[in-house]
Amino acid sequence: MLWKMESVFALTLLVLLAEVSFVAADDEAFIGVNIGTDLSDMPHPTQVVALLKAQQIRHVRLYDADRGMLVALANTGIQVMISVPNEQLLGIGQSNSTAANWVSHNVVAHYPATNITGICVGSEVFTSTPNAAPVLVNAMKYIQSALVASNLDRQIKVSTPLSSSVILDSFPPSQAFFNRSWNPVLIPMLNFLQSTGSHLLLNIYPYYDYMQSNGVIPLDYALMKPLVPTKEAVDANTLVHYSNVFDAMVDASYFAMAFLNFTNIPVMVTESGWPSKGDTNEPDATLDNANTYNSNLIRHVLNKTGTPNHPGIAVSTYIYELYNEDLKPGPVSEKNWGLFNANGEPIYILHLTGAGLVLANDTTNQTYCTAKEGADPKMLQAALDWACGPGKVNCSAMLQGEACYEPDNVIAHATYAFNSYYNRMGKAPGTCDFNGVAAITTTNPSHGTCIFPGSTGKMNSVGNITAPSMNSTSSAPPVQNLYNLGSLSFLLLRVLICSIVFL
Ligand SMILES: *[C@@H]1O[C@H](CO)[C@@H](O)[C@H](O)[C@H]1NC(C)=O
Ligand SMILES: *[C@@H]1O[C@H](CO)[C@@H](O)[C@H](O)[C@H]1NC(C)=O
Ligand SMILES: *[C@@H]1O[C@H](CO)[C@@H](O)[C@H](O)[C@H]1NC(C)=O
Ligand SMILES: *[C@@H]1O[C@H](CO)[C@@H](O)[C@H](O)[C@H]1NC(C)=O
Ligand SMILES: *[C@@H]1O[C@H](CO)[C@@H](O)[C@H](O)[C@H]1NC(C)=O
Ligand SMILES: *[C@@H]1O[C@H](CO)[C@@H](O)[C@H](O)[C@H]1NC(C)=O
Ligand SMILES: *[C@@H]1O[C@H](CO)[C@@H](O)[C@H](O)[C@H]1NC(C)=O
Ligand SMILES: *[C@@H]1O[C@H](CO)[C@@H](O)[C@H](O)[C@H]1NC(C)=O
Ligand SMILES: *[C@@H]1O[C@H](CO)[C@@H](O)[C@H](O)[C@H]1NC(C)=O
Ligand SMILES: *[C@@H]1O[C@H](CO)[C@@H](O)[C@H](O)[C@H]1NC(C)=O
Repeated sequence: MLWKMESVFALTLLVLLAEVSFVAADDEAFIGVNIGTDLSDMPHPTQVVALLKAQQIRHVRLYDADRGMLVALANTGIQVMISVPNEQLLGIGQSNSTAANWVSHNVVAHYPATNITGICVGSEVFTSTPNAAPVLVNAMKYIQSALVASNLDRQIKVSTPLSSSVILDSFPPSQAFFNRSWNPVLIPMLNFLQSTGSHLLLNIYPYYDYMQSNGVIPLDYALMKPLVPTKEAVDANTLVHYSNVFDAMVDASYFAMAFLNFTNIPVMVTESGWPSKGDTNEPDATLDNANTYNSNLIRHVLNKTGTPNHPGIAVSTYIYELYNEDLKPGPVSEKNWGLFNANGEPIYILHLTGAGLVLANDTTNQTYCTAKEGADPKMLQAALDWACGPGKVNCSAMLQGEACYEPDNVIAHATYAFNSYYNRMGKAPGTCDFNGVAAITTTNPSHGTCIFPGSTGKMNSVGNITAPSMNSTSSAPPVQNLYNLGSLSFLLLRVLICSIVFL
């Protein structure tokens, strides 16, 4: 249903369109990070805070109000959103004094040393704990009145993150509406957000929208890659063009609120991200895609571009999530949404040069050349043979017993050879093509002791690669195959099946 375009009643729509543009501009766009703790070796709060500082992360969201974390975050200047876990919702939603105790224990005890700026009352309550939904608004009101009693209601905002699945028919955005089953809770909730000046909090996962669309949503559109105008999605009612799922979903939420006559509640995204690893049936959960999505998302948010229907109105966003959570149940992707492992090492280096300070740890702007996933193995083999032969790449690291022998497959070996060649050619344009079977990436393909030429940081312990003078003329078309991967021995001639032409 995500992609269907229907006509709607133009009159209603015009009214909505006029109203929906009243959302106020918020120039404080920021990127925050969610901190889930389902790790077998969860770092100590002081280590977590050290990582946040090193990465210049100034906004975090916790899924609870862990005392250790709140103490470690004191006097750091980091702004913290805390949460009432879903398990505590029923108690708080049924008792004003339970709510007051919660605030006194988890907020008043830490503020202002710890700069608590928001309280998430529950998480995706409609979809994950629907039995608590009837008391959700009461819980929010009780927490709010406890904040008022402590004179903290101006500094600390109360809201509740929604799953984007409560928004139905989200494309085209102008036709989106909230699942009507929840209107009895949603309408009082929106009234509450409006009267307290709080945000609508939304979790947006283009990864799942893409996975569930059966090919209707193009990968590049989900990944926020730049699209040619003909590939953009057009909202037939507004004629607004969308170039990514994220923007379309944010605009859909504005329209869904406008449909209920709420036009001045700003949106904040409490979760968004992309997994870097998945099961075999999750082929798009890759390091490259995760890096691409999160890098694009961060640049987009910090650029204050806004959304197509609300240009210039920034949508602050918390990335899901800081750490890979190895104890999360479910498919492999569930455990691999993190930016860092438990040691604080990045899973991948975000490609953020020029985007600002947050998470900007790629000052090298490093690129690598890899074999394309899904490339024809024969083409790869031929290109590999060429690189290790006429291309003069030193391929001895891939011999049996050497560091880059494993994994013993043509993709891994071709990646090593392509990257060596690309690196030696000074990463000149056109030197990472190999007849279309190679692609540039920002993810360092080094693994274990197999260190790729050109990789940085601690990986860069290998000496400089020898760079004999070569140029595109002398390195032109492969004519003979001088290197046989199968037997991993040099100078074993093999019949060339495909003849390939470079450049
Ligand atoms: C918390 O952060 C906000 C936003 O930067 C700032 O205005 C406020 O002064 C901070 N509060 C405390 C107690 O540090
Ligand atoms: C809840 O307690 C606060 C004081 O903490 C009070 O102002 C408010 O009226 C109470 N609300 C209800 C519904 O009892
Ligand atoms: C709307 O919400 C109800 C209650 O959770 C659910 O049963 C129903 O499937 C939802 N409708 C859609 C179209 O998702
Ligand atoms: C929104 O406002 C219009 C016009 O005032 C009214 O007709 C409509 O019933 C309202 N919708 C809701 C959901 O309150
Ligand atoms: C940043 O915004 C400017 C204009 O506001 C736009 O031209 C540019 O493409 C945007 N960059 C990104 C990465 O979104
Ligand atoms: C980059 O990340 C490493 C940890 O991987 C950290 O030690 C270092 O301080 C970071 N550098 C910057 C400039 O953020
Ligand atoms: C980083 O890489 C991009 C694309 O590869 C390039 O446009 C940009 O100029 C580079 N920035 C720096 C600082 O090298
Ligand atoms: C090729 O690399 C290996 C290490 O992997 C090194 O021992 C050898 O000297 C290199 N050969 C040439 C010709 O550079
Ligand atoms: C690599 O080359 C650079 C510049 O040519 C040189 O300064 C550096 O010492 C070399 N490193 C090694 C390990 O040989
Ligand atoms: C490549 O090598 C040829 C022959 O050595 C030379 O004439 C040509 O100028 C070189 N081209 C480049 C781009 O260095």
